[in-house]
Amino acid sequence: MTTADTSQDGEPTRRDVIHIFATVTAGVGAGAVLWPLVHQMNPDASVLAMSTREVDLSAVPEGQAIKVMWQGRPVLIRHRTAAEIAASEETPLSALKDPIARNENLADGEADASDANRRIDAKWMIVTGICTHLGCVPLGTAQGENRGDFNGWFCPCHGSHYDLAGRIRRGPAPTNLEVPPYEFVSDTLVKIG
Ligand code: FES
Repeated sequence: MTTADTSQDGEPTRRDVIHIFATVTAGVGAGAVLWPLVHQMNPDASVLAMSTREVDLSAVPEGQAIKVMWQGRPVLIRHRTAAEIAASEETPLSALKDPIARNENLADGEADASDANRRIDAKWMIVTGICTHLGCVPLGTAQGENRGDFNGWFCPCHGSHYDLAGRIRRGPAPTNLEVPPYEFVSDTLVKIG
């Protein structure tokens, strides 16, 4: 090693000073590059608006359903009749394959899968349309589609039957259809997300 590399009295050499300066400069440069990236990653109001979706339900008659997309996922919304609500509410918990509500709107993640724990307004059953077996989109939303043995939704990929509350009742799907986060802005306007 030459005397140009090492100070004899412990003081930093010219090369040390150049190295420190280069390191600090690189750090500042990286920060200058990273800041706009980090700033871009903070969601502003327009991004937050995109993470939610308002759906007008006023044109969905009783007994029918619609499918909307939210964050790239299908969401199924069924306008249940009084008879359908009653049938779903009367289903004993012992008949359920998956006893957990799986409702993102509930604070209690272990709440039971009673009909009441699967919705906000009894008329509207709102579930994510992704079969919990291997991810197919269940039938039963469009008119004339097979609703399965429990009059809810039916996944034709491997034969999973969901009931009027989106609960798995028969077939290989292990869990109930998820209930996404949502709230009602008015009687017929729902905000998903
Ligand atoms: S993906 Fe639905 S039953 Fe297999």
